[in-house]
Amino acid sequence: MSRRKPLWRLFFALMAMVFLATGCGDKTMNIFEPKGSAGEQQLDLVMLSVYIMLIVFVVVVSIYIFVLFRYRQRKGDDAPPKQIEGNTKIEIVWTAIPIILLIILAIPTISTTFSLAKEPPKDDSIRVKVTAYQYWWMFEYPELGIRTSQELHIPVGKQVFLELESKDVIHSFWVPSLGGKMDMIPGKTNTMTLDAKEPGVYEGRCAELCGAGHALMNFRVIAEEQADFDKWVASIKDPKSQPVNAQAQEGQKIFSQNCMGCHAIEGAGMKVKGDKAPDLTGFGNRTTIAGYLPNDKESLIRWLRDPQSIKPGTKMPSYNHLDEQKMNALAEYLTNLK
Ligand code: CUA
Repeated sequence: MSRRKPLWRLFFALMAMVFLATGCGDKTMNIFEPKGSAGEQQLDLVMLSVYIMLIVFVVVVSIYIFVLFRYRQRKGDDAPPKQIEGNTKIEIVWTAIPIILLIILAIPTISTTFSLAKEPPKDDSIRVKVTAYQYWWMFEYPELGIRTSQELHIPVGKQVFLELESKDVIHSFWVPSLGGKMDMIPGKTNTMTLDAKEPGVYEGRCAELCGAGHALMNFRVIAEEQADFDKWVASIKDPKSQPVNAQAQEGQKIFSQNCMGCHAIEGAGMKVKGDKAPDLTGFGNRTTIAGYLPNDKESLIRWLRDPQSIKPGTKMPSYNHLDEQKMNALAEYLTNLK
């Protein structure tokens, strides 16, 4: 059997990896096109280490190629060549160079890490407490007295000081275009400051394996102009939770009987502060269900009937026992919460 075959396979596997890895063309998830100052600083650190690696690579490969040709076996050479062992000078040099390179890398890395964790001046920033749960996110704005789930609204150009916590296992907060990743550890509060320089919807991910639903523990950062952000805050403070029609009225009843033990909806006499599941105030304004399904009635009913098939490991129980009419009423009520 030819010994070249496995090499060809390796080559094709590597080429496939190149195409697959670069296939992630999602502009809202690209660390190489940062849309905020934290992301820019983190990209600078990545590029610094890339440049250092490139220098090391070029120097090592040049020496390697030089030695390969300069000291190759020639006719009349003794075999085996003279054996030598130990060279203090060379050993000091190749220990010192990596230490110097690591120091060059460490100084900006440590100073950026600490400066991103520091709270920015209060008059130009907002504070958000982020709590991770298997497998969803809660966002609380202590200064504004509101909270929401799954979609973090922020005003463009403002520093957003995040206090990151977890209620169960270790998660990690990551918005590729804006910055991250910061571990969220039960019993410990980590902090990080982010901002968005332009309005947009930025995809967020959990970046720490946290269980069966980890890969689907998505969230979104919605960066909007201050006026739009203020409008959103007002909609959460004074939500339209009144059922819009008779069907939604029935849906509200079904919600109180089945869902209020875990979920909260504020407004219209529905004020509950449960934190076992996402707060659904203003649910109709959200762009997704369960982190990645489109927010429409059809997806919502799919989710209610069989949440495990949509997000494995979720603590959301199935409501398959509700009949068609009740399910439609519940969906009508929830999708109209604005
Ligand atoms: Cu939470 Cu992975």
